[in-house]
Amino acid sequence: MFITFEGLDFCGKSTQVKLLEKYLIKNNKKVIVVREPGGTKISEQIRSILLDKVNDKMADETELLLFAASRAQLVREIILPSIKDNYYVISDRFHDSSIAYQAFGRNLPIDFVIRLQKFVINNAIPDITFFIDIPIEEVLNRMSRVKESQLDRIETSDNIYSKKIEFYKKVREGYLYLLEKEERIKRIDGMLSIEEIHNLVIKYLENLTVLKGDER
Ligand code: TYD
Repeated sequence: MFITFEGLDFCGKSTQVKLLEKYLIKNNKKVIVVREPGGTKISEQIRSILLDKVNDKMADETELLLFAASRAQLVREIILPSIKDNYYVISDRFHDSSIAYQAFGRNLPIDFVIRLQKFVINNAIPDITFFIDIPIEEVLNRMSRVKESQLDRIETSDNIYSKKIEFYKKVREGYLYLLEKEERIKRIDGMLSIEEIHNLVIKYLENLTVLKGDER
């Protein structure tokens, strides 16, 4: 089973990833958690290039290709072998992030970004994807509570408030576009409590395994 979590920055997905990992381990499942960008030695090196604020001259095209390179390595080194080995693989962000952030957020050509993802992920398509949806104002609220030094390059790339709003609006539109298109994506209201969100995640997963069981 391959599960991914998506959403705008500060939507709370990393907390949900940890809770789900705990839940699955408690239920005697073999679990591997990865984060994007990152998750392998090579991908973590690419992550630091991507998120380092000194790289403020990075072209959008470079950004897209670095995310793709990091992902290609993670898929081949960890994700595909782990799925084959019957692990539950949980990824904090995956290819949908590139469609939302690079195609919609950065205005790169969507057809190409989608084609690139197909090349990169091979047949590692998530069984289910949780899109934790929070309003843009909430992203900015939560961001303002974090020290500037703790923000990464992407979070600080548009320093003007109105530009930030515009960027996250486009990224959210990207997620809504994907939600319409892909049945595997489940939207969860990110303004619910941590526990409520976790319970919804478990419910969706239970439904999915029941359905999968029926197919056999
Ligand atoms: P992440 O580590 O998930 O940050 P956070 O936990 O704060 O959400 O992701 C880092 C940044 O990289 C985040 O701003 C989203 C961005 N990103 C993309 O733009 N494209 C991608 O394909 C991925 C995986 C992430």
